[in-house]
Amino acid sequence: MAKVQYEIRVAFESEADSVAEFLNNYFYGWSPLTEISGNANGSKSDILLPSVTLKNSTIVKEGLSIIAVSDTGEIIGASINETLNSEPVSSIYEIALLVSTVNDVMNEKRKAKKEMLSGILVVHPDWRGNGIAGALLSQAIELAKEKKFDQIRCHCTNAYSARVYEKCGFEYIHSIRYEDYKIDDKVVFKPRSPHTHIHGMALRLDN
Ligand SMILES: CC(C)(COP(=O)(O)OP(=O)(O)OC[C@H]1O[C@@H](n2cnc3c(N)ncnc32)[C@H](O)[C@@H]1OP(=O)(O)O)[C@@H](O)C(=O)NCCC(=O)NCCS
Repeated sequence: MAKVQYEIRVAFESEADSVAEFLNNYFYGWSPLTEISGNANGSKSDILLPSVTLKNSTIVKEGLSIIAVSDTGEIIGASINETLNSEPVSSIYEIALLVSTVNDVMNEKRKAKKEMLSGILVVHPDWRGNGIAGALLSQAIELAKEKKFDQIRCHCTNAYSARVYEKCGFEYIHSIRYEDYKIDDKVVFKPRSPHTHIHGMALRLDN
């Protein structure tokens, strides 16, 4: 296979809207819990509220997000990161609830003083399976060290990205099986195999 050519770097403030659009196209509707066929609300248009695009664009402007850019200048991957300072939110109520359940346990078990949230990790479908997610995350870790964060946490919903976080040294702090997660006695999420759990994971950084 030909060697894939891409650059990994911090997303510029001026690229915030393009990165948010990339997420609209390749994260929402693609991640296990937002996949069109199995998401909580049933359609991509429910997820893509204008406020979501605006929020992601604002997060990118914080300067902690990393992107992969192809040799033709196209965004092909993103690690969207922000300072963890409040409850993690999602535009979908059921996902927000699940994430905050995991997050609460992480706060009890592994809270650190200054934390970065690795909120989204995504690679363009045509470029997956080439190690780009790992390259994005490695650079995000270096940036977090540079910015003197004590820890990075993530709420990982995808079995493939869990492997990527694990390979980069993240530990599993709290996991919930989707088939055990019920609201009003009903299983809420039924993502495709092999996505069986949401994992709260964390990496301590030595500063
Ligand atoms: C998860 C995601 C970011 C991985 O990106 P990627 O660049 O393809 O990741 P990698 O190439 O580093 O692969 C990661 C691991 O998953 C495996 N993998 C990835 N896609 C796979 C597939 N379709 N089938 C089987 N294994 C797969 C890889 O083999 C690798 O495992 P290994 O290290 O044991 O070889 C990408 O699939 C994606 O964007 N998914 C949709 C968005 C999403 O769900 N993000 C995560 C939310 S927490």
